[in-house]
Amino acid sequence: MDPRMDPTEILTSLSTPAGRADPYPLYAALHEVGEVIEVGPRDVFVVGYDAINTVLRDPGFQVGDAASFDNVAPGWQANPVFVQGADWILNLNAPRHSRIRSLIARAFTPRRIGGLEPAIAKISDELLDGMADRGADGSPVEFMHDFAYLLPVTVICELIGIPEADRERFRPLARDLAGVFEIHDPQALPAINAAAVELLAYFTALAAKRRDDPRDDLLSDLLAIADSGDGRLTDFELLHNMTLLLVAGFETTTNLLGNGFQIVLLDPAAGDAVRGGSVSPAAFVEEVLRFDSPVQLTSRIGYDTMLAGVTLTGETGVATLIGAGNRDPRKFTDPGRFDPRRTEGSPLSFGGGAHFCIGAALARLEGTVAFPRLLGRFPRIAPAGEPVRRETLLLRGYDALPVTVI
Ligand code: HEM
Repeated sequence: MDPRMDPTEILTSLSTPAGRADPYPLYAALHEVGEVIEVGPRDVFVVGYDAINTVLRDPGFQVGDAASFDNVAPGWQANPVFVQGADWILNLNAPRHSRIRSLIARAFTPRRIGGLEPAIAKISDELLDGMADRGADGSPVEFMHDFAYLLPVTVICELIGIPEADRERFRPLARDLAGVFEIHDPQALPAINAAAVELLAYFTALAAKRRDDPRDDLLSDLLAIADSGDGRLTDFELLHNMTLLLVAGFETTTNLLGNGFQIVLLDPAAGDAVRGGSVSPAAFVEEVLRFDSPVQLTSRIGYDTMLAGVTLTGETGVATLIGAGNRDPRKFTDPGRFDPRRTEGSPLSFGGGAHFCIGAALARLEGTVAFPRLLGRFPRIAPAGEPVRRETLLLRGYDALPVTVI
């Protein structure tokens, strides 16, 4: 890191290919500048752990909702993905957010999530069987596609109640839709919109079936809540938030698995500690979340207040750099060291406050079930080529991690 770089240059460097590949030296430089960094008359970047926590928990900071879509994307109503997005709880403020989120949360019960554990174990084992078969002669297998991508999307299908026969068609659509978080290129929008339209049609048809014939799944539970007579969850609110569950829950968890696995590939002792039981799977997963957060940033709109000595207004765009907060040396000793035995507090990786990740328990469960199975099954798993990073800024992860399993 060039010590002469000013904060704005550091932030610009974050969106270059090199900055995306490894933002951590840039974050370290930003921590030396301060907790909140002004990058123009109307924008701040929040990098300190405590300041990020404050922004996420203080209801004065609002998310950009449909009213603000008009400013950033005029004509957004012509795009099905934004029409759905305008109902996503991620993009709603109180009181609408509280109403819809609390109804969805009623179906996201610990019983429903905990009940997925046997299915997660079974799906993991089947995927590991496939990797073992393909790699039995020593040829490379590709972890990101063969495991990290297939596990979360299959688990979400299981949670929602998507029949097995439909899942093949469903998976690529879920992946296309997830592109909405990283639109650098307007040419990507048609594929995202097409996925949004097809998924909504799919959920509409599935909801009709589940209304006639409810099952033990999340969609049936949500329909029962929507139909409970007080009209507090409209069909569109329900169906649009089903597409949110896909985009919010799929690639994020894929990246938790990939980022954690790459840590083990680079440092086999970290994997041996989980294999040998000296580090619990839960502690390992928590440190992966901190060390290489699958979600690197989120944003809010400011209000008239002070944050770590910086004056904000209702015009201020506030980017909270979660990945930087997780490496704040004021909070975590030697933050660049992977250490699952830390006791310094939770990472910010699932956010905080009203929008705290509704799927956090599920993502943690997937990680704690999958990692010990993967590591136990393949004691000699090793890299078989260069990892390929996804060129994303908000979500951090890999496209390919080739390995040999014997
Ligand atoms: C490792 C995996 C995951 C990570 C790192 C993650 C991260 C996050 C973060 C940071 C937020 C808050 C965003 C903000 O405040 O602006 C969030 C919200 C959310 N997440 Fe997750 N997530 C993960 C997995 C999941 C899963 C598995 C699901 C669903 C099955 C899910 C569903 C959601 C939803 C619906 C929200 C919006 C909540 C609201 O706005 O009230 N996430 N997630």
